[in-house]
Amino acid sequence: MNNNATPPKGVILITGASSGVGEAVARSMVELIKSAADQSGGHELVLLGRSAQKLTELQAELRGDMSPVTAYAGDITDVGYLGSVLSPIIAMGKRLSVVVHCAGMGRFGKHDEVKLGDIDEMIATNILGTAVLLQSVIPVMKEARAGHLVVVTSDVARRPLEEGAIYSASKYAQSSMVASIRKEVQPFGIRVSEVLPGLIDTNFHAEPAGSPAHHDWLQPTDVAWWIQAVVCAPQHVVVDEVMIHPLSQRY
Ligand SMILES: NC(=O)c1ccc[n+]([C@@H]2O[C@H](COP(=O)([O-])OP(=O)(O)OC[C@H]3O[C@@H](n4cnc5c(N)ncnc54)[C@H](OP(=O)(O)O)[C@@H]3O)[C@@H](O)[C@H]2O)c1
Repeated sequence: MNNNATPPKGVILITGASSGVGEAVARSMVELIKSAADQSGGHELVLLGRSAQKLTELQAELRGDMSPVTAYAGDITDVGYLGSVLSPIIAMGKRLSVVVHCAGMGRFGKHDEVKLGDIDEMIATNILGTAVLLQSVIPVMKEARAGHLVVVTSDVARRPLEEGAIYSASKYAQSSMVASIRKEVQPFGIRVSEVLPGLIDTNFHAEPAGSPAHHDWLQPTDVAWWIQAVVCAPQHVVVDEVMIHPLSQRY
């Protein structure tokens, strides 16, 4: 990546930052900001997730002199929570430059065996959560006539997964939401990018991150590298979609 590339100045809000891809994105943004040629400041990270403890630990680790890091624990489907995250940003006249949406979950199995509660949770988190998040942040970016929305969907948004009917449906829904919104917000100078990864070694799966079964999968840092590239593209460029897989994955 271009050594001089930096994310646009302002607040970089990352959902799902307590684990996996979102956590790797948070770390990579801080590294990028620290190593940038321009050290005049102006970047701020806002980390979202449900686990308050993990967020607090990450916040303490990443907090730097030049780039403040704040963290808010809550559920992405809660409009009130998102409002309380955005209120101080709006009140202090800060620019919301980038939103990287990584929060998501999946439950897998034969469709006639998947629990109704799991179906509800996938629809609520992946579809409703994305809709509510985007609805909350778009007005702030529209007002500024600038901003970048990056949504992590999945490769299953293009090829439905066997024993993953509702998860695949939720990712198709996220993907079409993103494509539709890209058209709506383009006149306001807002970029919208979709990142569609294949298998990633995170706690998303039945076996935890680092399990031998994941040894040749994408690392969260691989996905974060591409998200950096998307966010650091020149301002007149919008990367619509990036699909990445581990070389070992058959699809
Ligand atoms: N891992 C893969 O193989 C893979 C492949 C393709 C796409 N993806 C997608 O990549 C994204 C990131 O997943 P990951 O692999 O990084 O999984 P992960 O390690 O399990 O992380 C998921 C993150 O989402 C947060 N989250 C889940 N439900 C939430 C809710 N209701 N409200 C707020 N935050 C919530 C979690 O917060 P807490 O932990 O604090 O609850 C966690 O930070 C997801 O959208 C997933 O669908 C994953």
